Amino acid sequence: MKIRKAVIPVAGLGTRFLPATKTVPKELLPIVDKPTLLYIVEEIVAAGLSEIVLIAGRGKTAIEDFFDTSYELEATLEKAGRLELLKPFHETVKNLTVVSIRQHVALGLGHAVLCAEPAIGREPFAVLLGDEVMIRRPGKPSGIAQLTKIYEETGVSTVAVMPVEESEVNKYGMVKVTERAENLWNVHDVVEKPALGQAPSRFALPGRYVFDASIFEDLRQTKPGRGGEIQLTDAMTSLAKRQGLLATVIDAQRFDAGDKLGYLQANIELGLSHPQIGPALEKYLKERFGGK
Ligand code: UTP
Repeated sequence: MKIRKAVIPVAGLGTRFLPATKTVPKELLPIVDKPTLLYIVEEIVAAGLSEIVLIAGRGKTAIEDFFDTSYELEATLEKAGRLELLKPFHETVKNLTVVSIRQHVALGLGHAVLCAEPAIGREPFAVLLGDEVMIRRPGKPSGIAQLTKIYEETGVSTVAVMPVEESEVNKYGMVKVTERAENLWNVHDVVEKPALGQAPSRFALPGRYVFDASIFEDLRQTKPGRGGEIQLTDAMTSLAKRQGLLATVIDAQRFDAGDKLGYLQANIELGLSHPQIGPALEKYLKERFGGK
């Protein structure tokens, strides 16, 4: 079955970016000249998906507005003959349907995904975290396209994994896997932020998933875990045991834009490859660090 819909949970509080995120959602903080969210939307569009379900919360209306027409701005730009500034954005969103659902209380990522059920129905769907950026490598499909392809071939829910250092396992959901084929793994168990030394493997979940709609049933059965939150990882374990769950390492340039260091790295790397400012930024960095 073809994947058509993608859920982007954007209802988190973004406490790591306070005070910036007091009034601006972290998903709208710019990486060079585009909000983090737009990189994620581009990844979805590149995979041929046509509907986005935003899971938004209080103070996140700016995210919904971002997809709307800004009449005053666009009329002013048109008069000045400068509408081409918005052309790439219009191209990206022109065939997209965007719906938004409220998560009234931020009860965790699992709860956020469950909130998407009325807009998803019974079809399989993708989930992309609103603060994880995956930049496509030349000639490769987009990050989420690498997962939808496996789902469409196997009919089995599939998630992205990435190897992390032992010292990092307590920051991620970590998976227990056995190898099934080249770069394809069977997932047996998922553990949320294990203590150092307790991870079942070095494979972490970087926030890209394709799920069968029956995960909603697993989510409904999931009791609040760590921090009173409904964990997506708990529902993934029950899905894995019930139906099977696959994992693959996505080939893309990944940035954790929900973290200060990851956000700055994304700005530097994407700044360096930006056609307008790339050369000047490179010159500056060389001067700053002694030309090496
Ligand atoms: P994070 O774990 O980064 O949480 O959520 P957060 O609250 O946004 O940020 P910090 O840790 O306080 O700085 C990962 C993604 O899941 C969404 C967030 O918006 C983010 O895109 N999320 C998280 C929800 O939509 N609802 C939730 O209840 C929790």
